[in-house]
Amino acid sequence: MSQNIENHLIEDREFLPSEEFRSKARISSMEQYNEMYKESIEQPDVFWAREANELQWSKPWDEVLDWQPPNAKWFVGGELNVAENCVDRHVAAGRGDKAAIIWEGEPGDKLTLSYKQLQDEVCKMANVLESRGVEKGQRVLIYMPMIPEASIAMLACARIGAIHSVVFGGFSAESILDRLEDCKAEAVITADGGWRRGSIVPLKASVDAALEKYAGVKTCVVVKRTENEIDMVAGRDVWWHEMAAVASNEHEAKSFDSETPLFILYTSGSTGKPKGILHSSGGYLTGAYTTCKYIFDMREEDVYWCTADVGWITGHSYITYGPLAMGATQLMYEGAPNFPDFGRFWQMIEAYKVSIFYTAPTAIRAFIKAGDAFPEANDLSSLRLLGTVGEPINPEAWMWYYNKIGGGRCPIVDTWWQTETGAIMIAPLPGCTPIKPGTCTQPFFGVEAVILDEEGEEVGANEGGRLMIRKPWPSMLRGIYGDPQRFQETYWNDFEGIYTVGDGARRDEKGNFWIVGRLDDVLNVSGHRLGTAEVESALVAHPTVAEAAVVGRPHEIKGQAVVAFVTLKQGIEATAELEKELRNHVGQVIGAIAKPDEVYCTPVLPKTRSGKIMRRLLKELVATGEVTGNVTTLEDFTVIEDLQKKIKS
Ligand code: WT7
Repeated sequence: MSQNIENHLIEDREFLPSEEFRSKARISSMEQYNEMYKESIEQPDVFWAREANELQWSKPWDEVLDWQPPNAKWFVGGELNVAENCVDRHVAAGRGDKAAIIWEGEPGDKLTLSYKQLQDEVCKMANVLESRGVEKGQRVLIYMPMIPEASIAMLACARIGAIHSVVFGGFSAESILDRLEDCKAEAVITADGGWRRGSIVPLKASVDAALEKYAGVKTCVVVKRTENEIDMVAGRDVWWHEMAAVASNEHEAKSFDSETPLFILYTSGSTGKPKGILHSSGGYLTGAYTTCKYIFDMREEDVYWCTADVGWITGHSYITYGPLAMGATQLMYEGAPNFPDFGRFWQMIEAYKVSIFYTAPTAIRAFIKAGDAFPEANDLSSLRLLGTVGEPINPEAWMWYYNKIGGGRCPIVDTWWQTETGAIMIAPLPGCTPIKPGTCTQPFFGVEAVILDEEGEEVGANEGGRLMIRKPWPSMLRGIYGDPQRFQETYWNDFEGIYTVGDGARRDEKGNFWIVGRLDDVLNVSGHRLGTAEVESALVAHPTVAEAAVVGRPHEIKGQAVVAFVTLKQGIEATAELEKELRNHVGQVIGAIAKPDEVYCTPVLPKTRSGKIMRRLLKELVATGEVTGNVTTLEDFTVIEDLQKKIKS
């Protein structure tokens, strides 16, 4: 935390877009930005109506915004079909032959889908889902590798008004089960497997394990990808290629109310199980579209590549919905960035002449470590714009990205946002905003971001506080699925009508935002959110564990590493094997990203006299090896001394 603040206080490097970039950009001066920003805040109706009108509506809205905190409705009474906007609209405009998705599998297989071909596939999938009884409003869980069918499945759901919930392919069977039960899904779309670092991830097997304990799914569509042996349950499971072979590529799309739920995406909170963030149609699409247009400055001739997985919000907004709503050409890649080696991304950028590249700081740090020889081996001159997302980017990583990947020529858009915000909220506009390593710079149109103190007063320049959003925005979450109370408590209880982000931040004298990190018990591991409570509950579910406390430790590549402290049940001996088993156990319960880097067995955990675990001390201990903060409430200091020895050894 303090490191970031110091960086910013000493960070005086500032970069402006080249004249070449600026002259072609949609927004090419700060005056233009300021003017549009002012309008977006003072007359959101006017601003957002103009943007939303670039999309296709079958019925115009009566009112742009109906805001009854914490409930917002956007484009009230308007009707549209999200999938038609992302696909059919472009075909109808004579752009059917344009490449929509250029895909490369990890083993090197390739496929290009034009907008017309994408339309055929989406229509077929929509027909298949309907033939299997999937209806508007039903929930469909999608558990897929990064293949075009992942986006096709999402769009097919959108097309028929079903609500998809994509679960990242790295999550476990148990995580699938939790989500199936929470959203009461009635159908699943998955694949036999996906390729990752040369091995097959057995996706269907995980789905099967989850479905053994959940009877609500009546249909499971399986895409053949890896050709590994899988079980097909008669009556329930169908092969996509068999269904697609006989399905019609014509499907008449109905229009849906702007507020029709589009998807549920689960994300970690500071307590309890992951929450199902609910997004709706018209506002969400407008947000994804508008940010692609202005922040990525996407153009007809661009080849855009976002390296996220569709299992995260970045994949939803900046692989599936935003770029396709823009009619862009995008590259999609199935596998790992380091397969067969760390040159993969750079080879692909050269091969496909990628012009806009969007990735995460954790990936950049891994590339730095792998060495400059990899990017130097390829011609990256097609790139014109770079983006980053997921966590604060450290200045060293920023400078490397800027120089080694961008050739000192490409603006970097550091995009701050969240699963809940649906679209980018704070980021530079690449044609005008002066950029600096480590700051996501200025709020996007319509975003009234403020930094407040505990009393709800705005803090001064360079003073830290809580990042909050004052006004509703089109792509904001519409709720936590099935839990309005948690929605209210998590996001709206701090100050009336103001959205609580959960991040700490400061704003410098030029108005740039510097994100410090989460203020709650949520970790950011490789740009992914992980609740310490989730990992703790996975640990105590193990038969040997009595109590667990999980904290984050700064990590060179991942941003944060997961460190767990556990006390064992009576008579259980702490061994290196057990610690290893506990790590794997967490991997099995949640998924590999949640595996603790270290597990320390300890006879006791540091607690207050009233019995609360003092995670703050553990956090400091793993970060620095010392404990300097206030320890007067600690019940027994020898606990800390013992842990110190353990950590050092
Ligand atoms: C949290 C949201 C938004 C897609 C990826 C993560 C952190 C995100 C940045 C950034 C500093 C960032 C915040 C935020 N974060 N982007 N550019 N600079 N921090 O989505 O899993 O919903 O996590 O990620 O802490 O609250 P998410």
